[in-house]
Amino acid sequence: MPEIHTLTVAEVVTETPDAHSVVFELTPEQAEAFRYRPGQFLTLKVGTAARCYSLSSAPHEGSRLKVTVKRTDGGYGSNWICDNIRAGARVEVLAPAGVFTPKDLDENLLLFAGGSGITPVMSILKTALRQGNGRITLLYANRDERSVIFAGELAALSREFAGRLTVLHWLESVQGLPTVEQLRTLAQPFAEFEAFLCGPAPFMAAAKQALKDFGLPKNRIHLEKFVSLGGDPFATQAPAPESGETTALRVDLDGTQHEFTWPRQRKLLDFLLDKGLDAPYSCREGQCSACACRIVSGEVKMLDNEILDSEDIADGIVLACQSVPLTDAVSVTYE
Ligand SMILES: Cc1cc2nc3c(=O)[nH]c(=O)nc-3n(C[C@H](O)[C@H](O)[C@H](O)COP(=O)(O)OP(=O)(O)OC[C@H]3O[C@@H](n4cnc5c(N)ncnc54)[C@H](O)[C@@H]3O)c2cc1C
Ligand code: FES
Repeated sequence: MPEIHTLTVAEVVTETPDAHSVVFELTPEQAEAFRYRPGQFLTLKVGTAARCYSLSSAPHEGSRLKVTVKRTDGGYGSNWICDNIRAGARVEVLAPAGVFTPKDLDENLLLFAGGSGITPVMSILKTALRQGNGRITLLYANRDERSVIFAGELAALSREFAGRLTVLHWLESVQGLPTVEQLRTLAQPFAEFEAFLCGPAPFMAAAKQALKDFGLPKNRIHLEKFVSLGGDPFATQAPAPESGETTALRVDLDGTQHEFTWPRQRKLLDFLLDKGLDAPYSCREGQCSACACRIVSGEVKMLDNEILDSEDIADGIVLACQSVPLTDAVSVTYE
């Protein structure tokens, strides 16, 4: 059972006609649990459901954490948040999670954002500008000028960091949907950069293809997929049945090696949490990738996977929340 925190809303900011930012003010006691890396997300309890929202604030900005929610047509959670959450509201939230975050803030970054996909990208961009020294190029696609979230802030950062930040806006109302070829042409000068992509599925697919076409290695392309959680990570998990067969498990987490005897029917994440390890996760349903880790040796089976693609899997990436062991020994690492 994850630890559930209740955060107080300090402010709600109307960013565009259909996007609101919700700013939480942390108490000093909550600060430690809510330390985060740029690109990570929070999981909010929304009525009977739970939804993930990326932090658009940056860690160096302090105790006010901001998520930015764009209304989805016919969507339950996003419209509920935009219609109901006001300053002073108390919201149940899970601690930050996610692996869509740069390892090295000094890298040159190539960022692709479509619509609300700007939220984690904005956090990465602000952090890398303030705390790193690389060059940053943002390609930011939107339906029209009115739907550009953070337009003013990006313009101000472009002026302040004129030698390091380039923002290329793409407006569907003017230029149509960007094609793979157009994205390839725009991105080609930045072929050596580390790429981060977030936005609607067709936009991400086109951007990923463009990057692959000019040979950017797969491990330099990072994607964040926005999906709605089907289950409720706030609910109590049923205890797993015990059986006799086990696997010798070796885990490398936060630079520490652990060895365990892993019951074959237990999912890796559940088992590690039972053992008291601080393994990352959010949805526990194979939908968000917060629990992703890499198989170093041995084999596991994923019971469900709605987020990793075949290339991730070929690279040995698995979802700990869905993995059960298949071999007598398994070694995994969280990078
Ligand atoms: C890691 C992560 C980070 C995210 N960060 C952000 C962020 O920063 N900002 C942001 O705005 N979003 C973000 N999202 C997406 C967010 O979690 C929600 O998925 C999004 O807000 C839509 O949720 P919803 O409840 O409004 O829509 P849902 O109710 O989930 O509906 C989604 C769509 O499905 C349709 N639908 C719903 N039920 C049915 C049905 N029974 N049959 C047919 N169609 C149906 C709806 O009409 C709608 O078009 C993120 C997601 C993830 C996983
Ligand atoms: S915790 Fe979300 S995919 Fe595993």
